[in-house]
Amino acid sequence: MTSLPDQRPYRVAVIGSGPSGLYTAEALLEADPDVHVDVVDRLPAPYGLVRYGVAPDHLKMKSVIRALVSTFDDAARVRFLGNTQVGDSGIPGEILREHYHAVVHATGSAVDRALGVDGEDLTGSVGSGAFVSWYCGHPDAAGPGPALDRPGVVVVGAGNVAIDVARVLARPAEDLAATDLHDTVLDRLRDSAVTDVHVLIRRGPQHVRFTPAELRALAKLDDVEVRVHDDGVLAAGVEEPAERRMRQNIETLTAWAADPPGAGGRRRIHLRFLRSPVRLIGDDGGRVAGVEVQRNEIGDGDRVRGTGETEVLDAGLVVRAIGYAGEPIAGLPFDEATGTVPHDAGRVLLGGEPVRGSYVTGWIKRGPTGVIGTNKADGAETAASVLADLPGLASPPRPGGDAVLERLREFGLEPVLWDDWQRLDAAEKALGERRGGTERVKIAERAAMLDAARGSRTSPR
Ligand SMILES: Cc1cc2nc3c(=O)[nH]c(=O)nc-3n(C[C@H](O)[C@H](O)[C@H](O)COP(=O)(O)OP(=O)(O)OC[C@H]3O[C@@H](n4cnc5c(N)ncnc54)[C@H](O)[C@@H]3O)c2cc1C
Ligand SMILES: NC(=O)c1ccc[n+]([C@@H]2O[C@H](COP(=O)([O-])OP(=O)(O)OC[C@H]3O[C@@H](n4cnc5c(N)ncnc54)[C@H](OP(=O)(O)O)[C@@H]3O)[C@@H](O)[C@H]2O)c1
Repeated sequence: MTSLPDQRPYRVAVIGSGPSGLYTAEALLEADPDVHVDVVDRLPAPYGLVRYGVAPDHLKMKSVIRALVSTFDDAARVRFLGNTQVGDSGIPGEILREHYHAVVHATGSAVDRALGVDGEDLTGSVGSGAFVSWYCGHPDAAGPGPALDRPGVVVVGAGNVAIDVARVLARPAEDLAATDLHDTVLDRLRDSAVTDVHVLIRRGPQHVRFTPAELRALAKLDDVEVRVHDDGVLAAGVEEPAERRMRQNIETLTAWAADPPGAGGRRRIHLRFLRSPVRLIGDDGGRVAGVEVQRNEIGDGDRVRGTGETEVLDAGLVVRAIGYAGEPIAGLPFDEATGTVPHDAGRVLLGGEPVRGSYVTGWIKRGPTGVIGTNKADGAETAASVLADLPGLASPPRPGGDAVLERLREFGLEPVLWDDWQRLDAAEKALGERRGGTERVKIAERAAMLDAARGSRTSPR
């Protein structure tokens, strides 16, 4: 490798302020005092899915933010550039790239996967990404949300997101008043006519992806009965799985099948094993009215096989919680099968060779699995690759600092800076005080977020 003149300080852009972006930024800043980082996000608020995915009643999880916030402690070396879309309808990635030695893509996996069944496009059929975004007050989903005016809801999937969605729909709205839920969302949940949430799980109790703690928490909900519909599989005894968490789930489910927690509760969560939706049935107005569900058997290699036996469940809302996919990033290779960017230890690979100065971290790197903490080691790996490469990377043709802000403005973008976010943060906390008993209430509409962020800016930046 030819040696380049010393170009310190190095400038790195991290695109995406979710856990993976922030853990990567933190690792870069900690490792070398001569690294400066801009954390860029399309939203006016930082933290990605910690703010817009983690369920509102997971208050302990939200406290992760207290650790993530410290990434921005050294204002001389790290900036937040929110409200800054990179790519379509924002600043093209290659233009932004001209200001940095290295760019780390930490854009997550925001696309809802499809079931591929008839009726999936009916009104009242939504992906978990869209539904969770709504109840988490994401600006792209702000509004009244899907109608909750019928007793039945179907949730498809057996992961933690399916559990989150079922729990938020089933638990009494008053129990969510002490969270950050936007008023519109809280009002809709208060008026909800939902009584039965059917969780369709395509395989057996030994195959679920819920974590034991999430599953067990369903038994603690006020006035909610949890019914296990397993076709007698548990009573007959399932082969003991090797994984501890699977064994714990089976223990819990076996106990519940015999003695449903919360029996007689006003609302019910039905865990329906070995069931797949085969068709969503619409009413005359084009809205979901029910789901045709097929019974499955487990075949070779734990694969599911439909038996042809079907039943219809009444439902006014269907939420697919069957996982996510990443979106291609303009100018970077993309693996359609996994919905990720090919990489080696975070270095983007094109035709097996590293693309100089381009890196990935988090869900866009490894796919849509793993808890918040998983992104720490992932971010550390990517940061280590960036740090090793920086001395050999070419000097960017354009300066950093204010020149980046000017460039963004040329593309019609007015970034939300860290101080602006702090004002928005304070405004949400003030709303929390007004509601009482909660730390914050989210502001969901983008315009209102921007007003709160810029309300009393003292100088143009
Ligand atoms: C519904 C849900 C609930 C979850 N709950 C928990 C939980 O309770 N506990 C737990 O440990 N884990 C939970 N997880 C998992 C955890 O949230 C993820 O592991 C983690 O958020 C992935 O981090 P990330 O940084 O890769 O992506 P994300 O958190 O999605 O962050 C991506 C960021 O990139 C930004 N971005 C995307 N595209 C662009 C662009 N073009 N330009 C600029 N910015 C862009 C986005 O706005 C976002 O801020 C949950 C996941 C989901 C889906
Ligand atoms: N509290 C928490 O810690 C928390 C909360 C939310 C999310 N998370 C994490 O975030 C990640 C994403 O969660 P997730 O729930 O979206 O994904 P997930 O854990 O991958 O679960 C996806 C579920 O969808 C099912 N599925 C996939 N395709 C299907 C289809 N066509 N029909 C029916 N079912 C289908 C899968 O079943 P098969 O197994 O049969 O494929 C699986 O049960 C996970 O790592 C999760 O642990 C954590």
